Amino acid sequence: MHLRQMLVLAITIACAHGQGPAGPTARYSTKTGYETSFEPGTDEKAQRLRDWQAIARDVGESESLTGCNPAGVYVVHRHGLRYPSDGDIEDYNAILARMKLTGVNDEFDYLLNITDNLYPIALEGSLHPAGFAEMEELGTRIKQRLPELFVEDGLSGFDFQGTYRQRTIDSAQGFINGLQGPEANCTVSSKSSTRDELTCTFNSTTNAETVVIDHALEGEDLLLKFYESCTNFITDVDENDAAVIEVDRFGEGPELTSAYQSVANKLAPIGWTSPWNMTKDDLEVMHHMCGYESGFYGSSPWCNLFSNNESLAVEYWLDLKQYWTEGYGYDINHQMACPLVDDILNYMTSVMTNRTHRGSFKFGHSSTFQPLLAILGLYMDTPKLLASNYDVSVNRAWRSGRISPMSGHLSFNVFQCPSEQYRVLVLHNELPIKVGNCEDFFCAYDEVESHLTTSSDGCQWDALCGTDGLYPGVGGAEALSKVSILTLICALIVSFSSSPLSIC
Ligand SMILES: *[C@@H]1O[C@H](CO)[C@@H](O)[C@H](O)[C@H]1NC(C)=O
Ligand SMILES: *[C@@H]1O[C@H](CO)[C@@H](O)[C@H](O)[C@H]1NC(C)=O
Ligand SMILES: *[C@@H]1O[C@H](CO)[C@@H](O)[C@H](O)[C@H]1NC(C)=O
Ligand SMILES: *[C@@H]1O[C@H](CO)[C@@H](O)[C@H](O)[C@H]1NC(C)=O
Ligand SMILES: *[C@@H]1O[C@H](CO)[C@@H](O)[C@H](O)[C@H]1NC(C)=O
Ligand SMILES: *[C@@H]1O[C@H](CO)[C@@H](O)[C@H](O)[C@H]1NC(C)=O
Repeated sequence: MHLRQMLVLAITIACAHGQGPAGPTARYSTKTGYETSFEPGTDEKAQRLRDWQAIARDVGESESLTGCNPAGVYVVHRHGLRYPSDGDIEDYNAILARMKLTGVNDEFDYLLNITDNLYPIALEGSLHPAGFAEMEELGTRIKQRLPELFVEDGLSGFDFQGTYRQRTIDSAQGFINGLQGPEANCTVSSKSSTRDELTCTFNSTTNAETVVIDHALEGEDLLLKFYESCTNFITDVDENDAAVIEVDRFGEGPELTSAYQSVANKLAPIGWTSPWNMTKDDLEVMHHMCGYESGFYGSSPWCNLFSNNESLAVEYWLDLKQYWTEGYGYDINHQMACPLVDDILNYMTSVMTNRTHRGSFKFGHSSTFQPLLAILGLYMDTPKLLASNYDVSVNRAWRSGRISPMSGHLSFNVFQCPSEQYRVLVLHNELPIKVGNCEDFFCAYDEVESHLTTSSDGCQWDALCGTDGLYPGVGGAEALSKVSILTLICALIVSFSSSPLSIC
């Protein structure tokens, strides 16, 4: 045999015994930590540390930015890395307890040594210290990226807003810590149902600064929790099992089933003739724990249960859920995010007339953030993600672990240029992206404004959501009256008919 043939054969054997052709690195859908979302083997980490001038140089737009300076910034964040939900913690504890009872294959015996009750139920869903640190770093970095916005002392002219969930408020606090720098010590000095106040003291001065984090009441937050008020979304998607039929189909399909059987077989103690007794839900929990702990500690023993392609199959299963409930799956999933788009537009417009409003920082959830990405037309796949097109979707744009990890965020960086010209740089997870049809990263203001206006599409929120007068919108009375008439007609039809029409 010739050397070349031998090489080809060797590679073929290596591939057959390995994981097949190299696919993307698996991630953990929405359970992915910020750093875990980075592309391994690249200099992405360094790219995220660049200031705006370095970004401009790297994308070849420095020259056209002569005389431009940052004028303001608006950022929508998902909260930082959090503890697992109570459901995950309970399932995880049950899996561990069963493993300790039955034993597992020697290859994984270190799992039996894991401490019981590692994650107290009391901490479920709350911000993990690693998530606080993620946010602190993002605060430090945005200040380095846009130093011109932070020349003045203090944080006046910046506003901060979370939701009624404590982890978003804690995320804002981590971010503020980062903005204030290592000299500061910020502690919560007062708390109410709609605002938390931090008092920051500094080693170098006796002046203290108060920073406010606003948050709307539960049920009243159309900006960051529009999905909890949008009736049509709740009934048609969120509480409708049929909406996630593709998720169920994939769960029953060959790829996920093969990954499931493989993990169950790997776990079976030596001598067993059957797989280790587990469900597909257990598989999901093990995958979640691998994602969470990779973020908490940098690695997790639970990841060892999955080959990369097995992990990719579970990731697709989880991403399908995100896609069909928070992404492009149904139009309402993202159209209902229009109040947030309107708020971004309002901010950008206000910066032109009010240079004291230096920044606006929002802290929400994946269900805030993923609809925002989709309403802006970002990361759209053709064809749609289905149970039946796993192979063509392996390199999909919509990968929640990549686009919406913990602390994921989208920033609108407004620059004022000579002759009252403005530009907007959009950064997604600190990397420059182009929106709409813009050819430049530092895009002409009008083009970004036009794309956002088109995306918001007049924001007929009440009509879309089947609600009455919750969102008057920026358009005001005219839009509202059309909606009210439709609502009235529908109310009449419904009251005279046992089967309401679909437009209602
Ligand atoms: C499990 O813990 C015991 C006692 O601490 C130790 O002797 C053993 O080496 C550990 N086993 C593994 C696989 O880590
Ligand atoms: C300032 O105080 C913080 C604690 O709030 C401390 O960690 C830090 O080392 C101090 N820095 C200086 C320069 O003294
Ligand atoms: C930070 O401030 C709080 C409240 O004023 C104080 O109790 C705490 O000791 C301070 N921490 C440091 C590291 O200075
Ligand atoms: C597997 O586990 C389930 C639920 O924990 C239990 O009902 C079932 O009897 C177990 N099957 C075997 C073969 O151990
Ligand atoms: C992963 O790769 C192995 C080896 O190529 C293959 O046997 C298995 O079916 C693959 N599993 C999935 C879920 O694609
Ligand atoms: C300008 O922005 C600041 C900071 O957000 C705000 O307090 C002030 O009311 C604004 N002024 C006008 C005229 O809108």
